[in-house]
Amino acid sequence: MLRFLTAGESHGKCLVGILEGLPAGLKINKREIDGELARRQKGYGRSPRMKIEKDKVEVLAGLRKGKTIGAPLALLIKNKDFKIDVLPHVYCPRPGHADLAGALKYDTKDIRDVLERASARETAMRVAIGAICKTLLQEFKIGIISHVTRIGEVCARTQKLSFNQLRRKAANSCTNCADKVAGARMVAEIDKAKGQGDSLGGVFELIAINLPAGLGSFVHWERRLDARLSASLMSIPAVKAVEIGAGFSGASRRGSQAHDAIFYSSGKGFFRKTNFAGGLEGGMTNGEPLVLRCAMKPIATLKKPLASVNIKSKRVTEAAVQRADVCAVPACGVVGEAALAFCLAEAALEKFAGDSLAETKRNYQGYLKQVRAF
Ligand SMILES: Cc1cc2nc3c(=O)[nH]c(=O)nc-3n(C[C@H](O)[C@H](O)[C@H](O)COP(=O)(O)O)c2cc1C
Repeated sequence: MLRFLTAGESHGKCLVGILEGLPAGLKINKREIDGELARRQKGYGRSPRMKIEKDKVEVLAGLRKGKTIGAPLALLIKNKDFKIDVLPHVYCPRPGHADLAGALKYDTKDIRDVLERASARETAMRVAIGAICKTLLQEFKIGIISHVTRIGEVCARTQKLSFNQLRRKAANSCTNCADKVAGARMVAEIDKAKGQGDSLGGVFELIAINLPAGLGSFVHWERRLDARLSASLMSIPAVKAVEIGAGFSGASRRGSQAHDAIFYSSGKGFFRKTNFAGGLEGGMTNGEPLVLRCAMKPIATLKKPLASVNIKSKRVTEAAVQRADVCAVPACGVVGEAALAFCLAEAALEKFAGDSLAETKRNYQGYLKQVRAF
């Protein structure tokens, strides 16, 4: 069983993570993890905090000579902006955050006790863990990308682009958008919102390729991969909707226009000419690319704050202003990649379980042989 836990506050000493369940013999490259951490910090519209933090991972346990030994991996990311004990108390809850419900639930009159852990700073550790899961998936040639398809009212047109085109074009864009014209309009939209003391949300798409059919299962609700992916993606702060394949637009189509006819050729095996299902049928991968989209709500900390109530005086006031991003959709996409990588690594290890990487790969090859001979 692959599982992880994280700990750490936004302005605490560090973030820590434990990832357990990886097979022995997987080569881990610290530079690749740091590369993913750097991607999470980028994107037009981020706060000045991103210039302070230059996230780097330390692997404290579970590796020997750069390879996993089957033991839990312990990871650490230091916070350069460590000042949690000298930061001021917060009494005015910000609408759209955990502030009010968290203060009531944990019975604290200092909202900082809540916001420090509720902050999306924690997602840095999820990205580090996701980077390790991506390394495992690469052993099976499974690739993952994210790209931004909407910021505020600006939408990208990317339907005709291949996986590699999307990856290359998005990587060259400060909004991680593969449509150059829309990307420039997104930048202007972010500048406009910033000038007005406002914020923006948007949509990013996740794609995973080279997945074998049969990851996940239909036999129990909690084994369905669509359910597990949605839960994992919805656990990212500010993600408010997850769409699989045709998603909501599929609901308005006739059945004949909403499902993917099955074909067979001796070279390719079973295949589809369309992918309305987004690569998932019956809670399992069906061998087609996985396609998911996530909606991120606009950043809730506003320079021109909404009305709130001081939890001590009970007087109407303005919500607290913390240093904040204007838009973090590109970064959220990177966190989405990590969430997807974890879920797919978990599902792949369930299917091909082995204590060593060599054993896991043998199981994988055996399964491919069975599918080819089917
Ligand atoms: C990568 C990333 C960066 C974020 N940056 C900020 C930020 O700077 N300020 C802010 O108020 N919210 C930010 N958020 C969103 C908050 O964490 C989120 O709105 C808050 O947790 C409440 O959302 P929820 O109701 O979905 O939990 C960010 C989210 C992500 C994924």
